[in-house]
Amino acid sequence: MSNWLDVSNIDELTLSTRRVVDVEGINVAVFNLGGEYFAIKDECPHDGGVLSNGELDGEVIICPRHGARFSIRTGTVLGPPAYEDLITFPVRISQGKVQVEIDRT
Ligand code: FES
Repeated sequence: MSNWLDVSNIDELTLSTRRVVDVEGINVAVFNLGGEYFAIKDECPHDGGVLSNGELDGEVIICPRHGARFSIRTGTVLGPPAYEDLITFPVRISQGKVQVEIDRT
């Protein structure tokens, strides 16, 4: 079963900002990149590092712990030492809220 859950008011996630929200026990990092919204699980698949404070290079996030690189858009791993993709979540805007979809099936 999937649910769309509010993670932010749209005016609180302004251009080039990010925030981390606990969504039903999952730390989800939500990004506004150039007016597009993306959401990832805030956990590096390499060794569990927190990704949300990683440096951004366009749509690429760099894990602050060991430097793995991932696409924020797709979750695809782009550089070692990680070899697994990120978990990503669909994002939508509804009635002034940024929402993410969590699939609990
Ligand atoms: S924990 Fe992210 S690269 Fe190691």
